Amino acid sequence: MKKRKKNLAVLVSGGGSNMASILESIDRGEINGEVKVVISSNAAAYALTRAKERNIPAYVCALCDFESRDARDREILRLLQAYEADYVLLAGYLGIVSPFILEAYPYRLINIHPALLPKFGGKGFHGIHVHEAVLAAQEKESGATVHYVDNGIDRGAIIAQGRVPVLENDTPASLQARVLEEVEHKLFPQVVGWLCDDKVRVENGKVIVDGHDAAR
Ligand code: GRF
Repeated sequence: MKKRKKNLAVLVSGGGSNMASILESIDRGEINGEVKVVISSNAAAYALTRAKERNIPAYVCALCDFESRDARDREILRLLQAYEADYVLLAGYLGIVSPFILEAYPYRLINIHPALLPKFGGKGFHGIHVHEAVLAAQEKESGATVHYVDNGIDRGAIIAQGRVPVLENDTPASLQARVLEEVEHKLFPQVVGWLCDDKVRVENGKVIVDGHDAAR
């Protein structure tokens, strides 16, 4: 019997190309889920335009419109509950998620980070800075990591990683583009597909996908 489609909420702050890759994967029938709501921390995010083009309810929850981060995150939680989110996908969301949201969605918040965690993660490692640091460290490969969100920054249990080589003439921008196109846009939809098929579980802090150790 086909299982119920999962309700997905996507949190964004920028371009939303990862969100677009998930929507395209849904269109191809690869994900047993539906994006019910998009929430942006940034009113100018292009991700909002992408959501509106598809008639997906989209909301701005910018810090500057609330009296505190707590108040902003209470509104985000209200929206997540109103749209009955099963999974909350952080797709280029710049911000720390308040503990009360994490408590409401244990092992149901997922983030994508453009590096091979645990390397090049944590405070300050976002956007182009990640790729600058990878090049400065003369790494031979980079990639992206999809992981559960916990109360640390880029520290939650890893669900899956994908890799690309770092090339000799790479600039931060060229490496960023390769990681985004060759890894992120494939890896995130793939993991969301697993989640929506109930293929992922966590045992003693270890992520298992379909009976196998998924972190690689
Ligand atoms: C991606 O590199 C993602 O890994 C990081 O932020 C970037 C967002 O890009 N967390 P987009 O908004 O999905 O285009």
